[in-house]
Formats: sequence, structure tokens, C-alpha cells
Amino acid sequence: MFEVKNIEDVNLAENPVIAQMSKYNHEQLLFCNDNETGLKAIIAVHNTVLGPALGGTRMWHYQNETEALNDVLRLSRGMTYKNSISGLNLGGGKAVIIGDSRSMKSEALFRRFGKFVNSLGGKYITAEDVGISPIDMTWVSMETNHVVGLPGKSGDPSPVTAHGTYVGMKACAKEQFGSDSLKGKKVAVQGVGHVGEYLVQSLAKEGAEIFITDIHEPTLKRVANEYGATVVGLDEIYDIEMDIYAPCALGATVNDDTLSRLKCSIIAGAANNQLQQEDVHGRAVMEKGIIYAPDFALNAGGVINCYSEVKGLSPDWAMSKAEEIYTTIHNIVKRSNSENVPTYQIANKMAEERIVAMGKVKLPL
Ligand SMILES: NC(=O)c1ccc[n+]([C@@H]2O[C@H](COP(=O)([O-])OP(=O)(O)OC[C@H]3O[C@@H](n4cnc5c(N)ncnc54)[C@H](O)[C@@H]3O)[C@@H](O)[C@H]2O)c1
Repeated sequence: MFEVKNIEDVNLAENPVIAQMSKYNHEQLLFCNDNETGLKAIIAVHNTVLGPALGGTRMWHYQNETEALNDVLRLSRGMTYKNSISGLNLGGGKAVIIGDSRSMKSEALFRRFGKFVNSLGGKYITAEDVGISPIDMTWVSMETNHVVGLPGKSGDPSPVTAHGTYVGMKACAKEQFGSDSLKGKKVAVQGVGHVGEYLVQSLAKEGAEIFITDIHEPTLKRVANEYGATVVGLDEIYDIEMDIYAPCALGATVNDDTLSRLKCSIIAGAANNQLQQEDVHGRAVMEKGIIYAPDFALNAGGVINCYSEVKGLSPDWAMSKAEEIYTTIHNIVKRSNSENVPTYQIANKMAEERIVAMGKVKLPL
């Protein structure tokens, strides 16, 4: 369904945008321009079979339009998979605003953007992403109701994301060690920001032996003192003796270099895009006997939190939905073992299978 289509009949040179959309079956792209405010944006709706396409708006100083287009196509497709595997009735979408987030922001620009979001009539629901602040989204919300994560609404998603990451980590432990207890397990957490600190809190409660690193010294010291964690160097984290590596800062930290050094048997963290090259490093971790918890399934607490806001559900509901990440990850790992296919591929398949199945529910009787 989401496979690369045979696009021989589309002349790539003459029609590159639609050809790119057809590659992964994107439904709709909305190019937004407004000379008065300087707004240049692209909204991508990848798939709405499960429900309205939800995904954040990113503001980034893209080098060119092609880079922005590639990013929005890739990110919106990623949201379809994340929302599907999490059992949410949401499709996948994303928006990018092209520009410098430090110098180009204005109320008018975001309100104009809000008007474009509104023009899609609820097919796309937006939220904060990289380069966007709560005040920016408040401006967007003056022109459309299709915004989530506003101040005073569902709130900081990090506790929910951390909880999902924690229970998913336990599911990996169950498969790898025969018990889901993390007591005494050596866990290395890279990045103790919003999500990382909540994760450390849960790990400390359970009696794990925790190692942490972060570029921000004051945070690092405070978290180490508060939870009795051992501080390790930014690069040293890849070399220490550990059972579990939990990347909670950057993407692409699972790569040729780190894989030759990491001594863990589980990789489970909240960071997005942990595998530098999905096809290469997803298989390499499996061949090394490491269980890799696919990031988009493990860190879905954030989008679960947004969904609770869309549906008017309680924070308790969001936490209990995030508990289901245990079963999701467990099923992914079991299927990966039985089919001898990397976990990230299994997660993709499971997300696609749900969309195909639910698509049938929507057919008229
Ligand atoms: N916040 C959420 O609910 C959520 C949801 C899904 C995914 N994520 C992903 O999880 C990760 C963490 O999110 P967050 O909200 O905690 O972000 P954050 O910015 O609050 O925390 C990231 C932390 O990583 C540290 N850091 C940056 N570069 C580092 C490096 N090279 N080495 C070590 N530490 C470094 C930062 O100093 C910061 O303390 C991000 O990749 C984010 O995209 C977050």
C-alpha cells in the first residue's frame, strides 16, 4: 500500500512533485505563500484512512525548497506509521514553515499559517515541533481550531512519552532477559532533558543502575544528584558496560561507529530517527543480538497525549494508553524473532496492516 509505485507513466522532469507524492502514496500537499507576512510553508497530508492527519509544524531554515519538500514528505509519512502502530484513530501529516525561527516570526505570519491549516477543514491537525513555541501555536489557534498542545490544554507530553519509553524498555527486557524487571540493570540514558529526566526517575524507582550524559552541565549534575545516577562523558557513553542504551537526545546515534562499540543488548530510547540508516543499521543491530525498540513505536506517548486533547480524554487515559506500548513492543520483538526480520521493518508492517484492515471497516455496507 505504501510501496514505491511504478511511476513510469509520470514524467519526473516535468512533474516532480506529484511523482514524489506518488512514491509513498501521499494524499495531499498544500503549498502556502503570503508575501505580506513572508510565510512560505508546505502542509503534507500523507494518509487519512484512520482519521485526520495529525503532526506538528516545524520551522526551519531550509537551504532550498527541495529540502523542505523532502522533509515534510518524510515526516508526514512517519506520523502515519506512528499514529497507526499506537492504535490511534489518526492519520499522518506534518507542516514545515521555511525560514529562520529566530528572526522571521510574527503574529501575522502564524495567523496567516493558521488560515491555511483551517482551509483544510480539519483534515490536518497541527501541533508544536522544532522551532515552534507555545505562543506561535496560540497565534495559529486564533485562525483555526485544528491545533493541539496549546498552553493550558493537554500540557507537557514528556511524562507520557517517558512512561511509554519505560514500559517499552521493560517489554524488551522480558524478551532479552526473561524478566521485565530492570532492578540492577545498567541503563545508560543519553540526554536528561524533558523526557530523559522522567525516564531516569522511573528507572531509579525500580532500582536500575543508571548512567547519564548531557551537554548541559547544570542539568546533568542536578539529575545525577537527585536520582543517584553516575555521570559519564558525551562520547564515553558508547563504551561503558551496560545492558540498555537509551538515546533521549539526538537522532542517528546508532551507526557504524557506535555499533562497533556499544556493549548493550537492548536499545530503547525516546529520540527520533535513532538508526542512522534504517535498512543498514536496523539489520546490523539484529545481527549483533541487540533488541532495538523502534523509536516511533516507543516514543508515541507524545502523540497519545495530543490525541487525548483531540478527543477530550483525561491525562489518566493518556497514561494508561501509553502503558499499551509494553504490548506493542513485545509483539514487535516476538514477531521480529519468529520471522527473523528487523524490528523496525516489523513495526512498519504492523502499522500498514492496521491501515489496510481499518480501511475495510470504512467501506459502505
Ligand atoms: N518531548 C516529547 O514528548 C517527545 C516525544 C517524542 C519524541 N521525543 C524525542 O525525544 C528526544 C528528547 O526530547 P525532549 O523533549 O526530552 O528534548 P529536550 O530538549 O528537553 O532534551 C534533550 C536533552 O538532550 C541534551 N543533549 C543535546 N545534545 C546532546 C548530546 N550530543 N549528548 C547528550 N545530550 C545532549 C540536551 O541538553 C537536553 O537536555 C528528542 O529526540 C525528541 O525529538 C520527545
